Amino acid sequence: MTILVSGATGNIGGEVIRHLLERKASIRALVRDRQKAANLEAQGVELAQGDFNQPETLEAALRGAETAFLVMPNDSHQVRLEGNFIDAATRAGVHHVVKLSVLRSGELPSTFQQWHRQIEEHLEASGMTWTHLRPNMLMQNMRWFIETMVQQGAFYHSIAGDTPISHIDARDVAAVAALCLTQSGHENQAYALTGAEAISFEQVTQYFASALSQSLQFIQVAPADMKAARLANGEPEWYLDAEAQLFECWQSGAGAMITPTYSDLMQRSPNTFESYAREYVQARTQNFQSPAGA
Ligand SMILES: NC(=O)c1ccc[n+]([C@@H]2O[C@H](COP(=O)([O-])OP(=O)(O)OC[C@H]3O[C@@H](n4cnc5c(N)ncnc54)[C@H](OP(=O)(O)O)[C@@H]3O)[C@@H](O)[C@H]2O)c1
Repeated sequence: MTILVSGATGNIGGEVIRHLLERKASIRALVRDRQKAANLEAQGVELAQGDFNQPETLEAALRGAETAFLVMPNDSHQVRLEGNFIDAATRAGVHHVVKLSVLRSGELPSTFQQWHRQIEEHLEASGMTWTHLRPNMLMQNMRWFIETMVQQGAFYHSIAGDTPISHIDARDVAAVAALCLTQSGHENQAYALTGAEAISFEQVTQYFASALSQSLQFIQVAPADMKAARLANGEPEWYLDAEAQLFECWQSGAGAMITPTYSDLMQRSPNTFESYAREYVQARTQNFQSPAGA
């Protein structure tokens, strides 16, 4: 049974492949640039070139696959582009699609929750079976903040420092994806995936301070100032506005929910932010110390 994994060179898709390799699955990775995925090919992963913007490439890549993992970065055309993938999968004869969605999909007015729900509905109407994975904020988002933390001793964010959020490790999300791609029993299910605790950015700051052995402070930035700074940095306005909507919802407590779904499915606890911070800083230190600078 061949499993097609999109986003194979990305954050979650890459981890899905790692988990599928552990499960000795037959994997085909959808990639735009074969060279970027040479390490996957070296591990026995078949590569198929394809682009969400070119539906014909998707159908060719999906042909012969029984199940598929659907993920792409947030994009102003995300609903249409993921729709291209779903239509191509239907035409190619795929049976089951596991879609990476977002926590509270369809429940909140924010753009990302609305777009993901539209894509979920498209998939539900496709005739294929489906599993929606709806994770909360990923711990891996900290990669965007770590260098500023180290250099300035501060973690800047527009969400208030005492807001509880049940962050989840992307590797835990990927482990659930691999389970749903390889085992039956998850057809037509939506899984809300969270960590086991809802913690504040103040607490996150302390975990990183301890891991880095450095004094750090959390500084809340006004959303308008955050937007202006990031616009000046070249980030698209639609994305910043969508993210600000999401942060507003989280600020009002929508991101604090804790579900037992991960533990129920995986029979173990999800990773904690404290352990994630320690591991991340350790890996970062090792990379800096490596003579190859890898
Ligand atoms: N971050 C969070 O806290 C969070 C929480 C919940 C849900 N989510 C959802 O997670 C998704 C993002 O996941 P991620 O972090 O794994 O994304 P990511 O790391 O940015 O993944 C990017 C992957 O998608 C591929 N890709 C991009 N455009 C493509 C295209 N046109 N055709 C084919 N492949 C394309 C990239 O390939 P290349 O290597 O060729 O660029 C790369 O493999 C979003 O839908 C977001 O809403 C995120």
